[in-house]
Amino acid sequence: MSAIVATGALFTWALHVHAENVPVPTRIVDLFEQDGGRHPGFRRNHAKGVCVSGHFDSDGQGAALSRASVFERGSVPVIGRFSAPGGNPQQEDADTTVRSFALLFRLRGGEEWRVAMNSAPVFMVATPQAVLEQLDASRPDPRTGRADPERLAAFQQRHPETRALLDWENAHPPSSGFDNAAYYSIDTFRFTDAAGSTHPVRWRVEPQRPYQPVSDAPADDPDFLEHRLAHDVEQGPVRWHLVLTEARPGDPLDDATRAWPDDGRHREIDAGTLVLDRVQSQIDGPCRDVNFDPLVLPAGIAASNDPLLVARSTVYAESFRRRVGEEAQAQQGHTPRGLTAWLAAVKAWIDPSRSSGTSGTRRTD
Ligand code: HEM
Repeated sequence: MSAIVATGALFTWALHVHAENVPVPTRIVDLFEQDGGRHPGFRRNHAKGVCVSGHFDSDGQGAALSRASVFERGSVPVIGRFSAPGGNPQQEDADTTVRSFALLFRLRGGEEWRVAMNSAPVFMVATPQAVLEQLDASRPDPRTGRADPERLAAFQQRHPETRALLDWENAHPPSSGFDNAAYYSIDTFRFTDAAGSTHPVRWRVEPQRPYQPVSDAPADDPDFLEHRLAHDVEQGPVRWHLVLTEARPGDPLDDATRAWPDDGRHREIDAGTLVLDRVQSQIDGPCRDVNFDPLVLPAGIAASNDPLLVARSTVYAESFRRRVGEEAQAQQGHTPRGLTAWLAAVKAWIDPSRSSGTSGTRRTD
């Protein structure tokens, strides 16, 4: 029943039209294009990135919180992608303050768990409406080609919740590599254990390698993040621990701008080790056609009421629809639009990793 209600909410939100008569997901992706430039075939946000693959070794401990098969003792293959926020695939790594990491766990029975995490424990804003305002405030000024600092300051003043991320970034310089950052789910999810009890959970992946600040990275290489990762993985696998944190009474469950207190009183479970042993270009690697929709979830994990989750799912689908359509057009050259879309749909049906998420196991119950 709750699945039907939540799915209804998803459609209601997706169809909700903005004042300018454009559906909100379309409007948001249009604004990403305005801010980052239009780069056909690339993601409209997190455009610069690199594919990785490996496996997740579960130690069985996560089963205390969720009956999802990923937490049974054993190993499952993963495809991933490291990236940085921003719509320009040529942006210089030194210009980015946040690192990002997306993963697709391939589970038995055709199930998948897709996640997309950032290297900060909180997000800038809490609602899709505020995302629209933020993107609007970040529009490049035609005179300078950069966002107008006054508009940005006015936006931040109207949205004091943005302070949490800005303060965190000031206190935590970005890491020197993708490999030595921790990455956070930020949003809350509802885990259900084998006995049917539900647990609100956020998670993070903790690097085995010690954090080093970006000041230790080579200043003259605009692509040092990808180069360092490729070099490291050539020497041997790179590892993270997947740590699940259960909410305590009073913790915010639907507000991604508010971290849970780091008071040592939360139940934390180390669910296993993520092992990455291959790096490939995003141009032809296995992550290229994956939509890391955070609502593609296995049985035992469901969305919370955090309004960002539905927004992310619908906006990622719109970004995916645009970039895969462009790629197919480029490949097919003369193929008419309708046939191109049909071919993309057939490919997605043959290989679900190419799907937009709408044909994956989307769970919002
Ligand atoms: C908890 C907050 C968020 C986190 C942790 C997050 C993280 C990520 C990550 C890691 C990616 C890259 C995925 C990949 O490698 O394919 C991504 C892509 C993207 N994000 Fe987010 N994001 C968040 C919120 C949002 C919100 C609120 C929006 C807009 C409503 C948004 C819009 C996008 C778009 C358009 C993409 C590109 C999707 C694609 O074409 O595949 N994100 N995000």
